[in-house]
Amino acid sequence: MSVAKKEYKRITVKSLVDMKSRGEKISMLTAYDYTMAKIVDGAGIDVILVGDSASNVMAGHETTLPITLDHMIYHASSVVRAIDRALVVVDLPFGTYQSDPKEALRSAIRIMKESGGHAVKMEGGKEIKESIKRILNAGIPVMGHLGLTPQSIYKFGTYTVRAKEEQEAKQLKEDALMLEKAGCFALVLEKIPAKLAKEVAKSVNIPVIGIGAGNGVDGQVLVTHDMVGMTHEFNPRFLRRYMNLYEEMTNAFSQYGKDVKSGDFPNDKEQY
Ligand code: KIV
Repeated sequence: MSVAKKEYKRITVKSLVDMKSRGEKISMLTAYDYTMAKIVDGAGIDVILVGDSASNVMAGHETTLPITLDHMIYHASSVVRAIDRALVVVDLPFGTYQSDPKEALRSAIRIMKESGGHAVKMEGGKEIKESIKRILNAGIPVMGHLGLTPQSIYKFGTYTVRAKEEQEAKQLKEDALMLEKAGCFALVLEKIPAKLAKEVAKSVNIPVIGIGAGNGVDGQVLVTHDMVGMTHEFNPRFLRRYMNLYEEMTNAFSQYGKDVKSGDFPNDKEQY
């Protein structure tokens, strides 16, 4: 498939669907704060995800479950202030949309009003269909998320590859079609076999963004702190580390500590 390049001043949900139809892959990374979002946006990444992975990466929780709507709004509003071009998608956190469609809509409205984000992402298939529809009816774009859905980690019991068995793969394919039919503008597939992800991407017209889902999808997403190597204990097979910032930052901090102790910092030129 040829890769047509078109310069977009501002990425919208429509530009993403356009990219898929032209065979142009979509790049997506996470950001949770102003400074990181500024760098990611300036680098030309198409979509910034304010993921509930902030619960792990920023707050040090073991799972994504503890992060609240207020926390997500704080992170998302910091990101929105930084961006000129990227589409900003914000995760609806655990417990803010599963109980009933009205609560789901209230949560999505708070995200849109209080953070200025452009769309929300929700984990799950048929079980949250009514909530998704309610949010879409209010004019809020929704990105779906299937496969490994970390908000259900206590149901799965493990972070291993999902949908390897026929029954789960069949359900995932049905859920993807349902999400497209309901009106979602895109879909994340996390940690599923590459063959299945490719099949799903071919079966829908909306863009499918993969993480640990192979190269047969329409775009890729990674957690920024993982791909720049700021985190170093999380090493799944799908992760490509573009830098080793953990080591570089450790060396810089350690050198700074030594320079302060020795009196080398600040020198004559570094004072008034
Ligand atoms: O929260 C997150 O960062 C995510 C990505 C892993 C897709 O949902």
